[in-house]
Amino acid sequence: MGIYNSITELVGKTPLLQLNGFQKKNNIEANIIGKLEYFNPNQSVKDRIALAMIEDAESKGLLKPGDTVVETTSGNTGIGLAAIAAAKGYPFRVYIQDQVSEERFKVIRAFGGTPIKLTEEPAIAKTLKETNGDFVAAIKSLKEEVVDKEENVFFVDQCSNPANPAVHKRTTGPEIWEDTEGKIDILVACAGTGGTISGTGAYLKEKNPNIKIVGVQPGPNSLPSEEVPQPENEITGVHPFVGVADNLIPSTLDRNIYDDYIAVEALDAYETARQVAKTDGILVGESSGAALFAAKTLAEKEENKGKNIVVIFPDTGLRYLSTGLFD
Ligand SMILES: Cc1ncc(COP(=O)(O)O)c(C=O)c1O
Repeated sequence: MGIYNSITELVGKTPLLQLNGFQKKNNIEANIIGKLEYFNPNQSVKDRIALAMIEDAESKGLLKPGDTVVETTSGNTGIGLAAIAAAKGYPFRVYIQDQVSEERFKVIRAFGGTPIKLTEEPAIAKTLKETNGDFVAAIKSLKEEVVDKEENVFFVDQCSNPANPAVHKRTTGPEIWEDTEGKIDILVACAGTGGTISGTGAYLKEKNPNIKIVGVQPGPNSLPSEEVPQPENEITGVHPFVGVADNLIPSTLDRNIYDDYIAVEALDAYETARQVAKTDGILVGESSGAALFAAKTLAEKEENKGKNIVVIFPDTGLRYLSTGLFD
C-alpha cells in the first residue's frame, strides 16, 4: 500500500463483512453483509461527503486558501469536515444540535474546529423557537442572517449540496457492486440528508434495476411530536422522509430511489447494535443498529431466503460511549 501523503487519500474503499454470528444467533437464512463505514479515516460515512464537498468547492473557486469552512450538522459531517479542513489548512466552524453526544464536540475541537450549539447562535435560536424546532428553517436563517453577511466563508450545506449524493454514486455504489461481484439483491440504508441512499441506490439501480433499495426511518415513538418535543430515545442522524412536508425534505434525498422503507424504533436499534457487537465483534452506532434491525426484518421473510442484503453501517459505536447506547 506504500505511504500515503494525506488523510484525503484514505477516504472510502471500506470493507464488506458478512455477519455470520448475527445470522446464526437469529436463525437467518439470508446473507446480511455490512458495509463498515467506520473504516474511513474519521470513522464515519461522512468522510466521503466532507472530502467531496470541499474538493468540489475548490474546483469551482467557491473555496480559496484562507477561507473559513462553515456547516451545520448532527455531528459526523462536522468531524469529517473538521479533519479534512485541518489537513488542507482551512479554519472550520460548525453549528451542532444541542443534544448531540459530547464526544463530537470534543473531537471537532481537537481538530482545531469551532463547534457552536444551535441555541447559542441568536439567529438560529430565534428561528427554532418560532418554528417549533424546524431544523431546515434554522439552517436557512443561519445562511441568510449570519453566513451570507460574512466575507471569505464557504457554507457547505450538506442538505442541498449535490456533491453529497454524487460521491456516493461515484464511490459507495461502485465499491458495493464490485466487492459483491454484482451479487446484491437488497440495499438497506438510513436517511439523514439522504445522500447515501440516493447516490448508492442510483448507481446500483443503473447496474441492475431489480435491486431493491430499502430506506430506514425512525418509528413513531422515536420522533419529536407536539406532545413529546424531545423523545427520550432518538436515532442520531436519522430523519423521517415519508409523511413529511415537502419543505422539510433535503434536496439531497431522491424520493424516487427507494422501493420501500421500514420504520425502526430507537430502542430496537440500540438493542441490535449491542447484539452485533457480541455476535460479530463490531462496535457500530445507533443508525447502524437501526439499519441492521430493518435488514433482519427483511431477512426473516420467506421470499428473501438466500438473498444478499447489503446494509450500510454509517459510524462507529465509540462515538456513543457517553450516551445510553452501550449501558
Ligand atoms: C450516524 C449517521 N447515520 C446515518 C446518517 C444518514 O446518512 P445520509 O445523510 O447520507 O442520509 C447520518 C447523517 O446525518 C449519520 O450521522
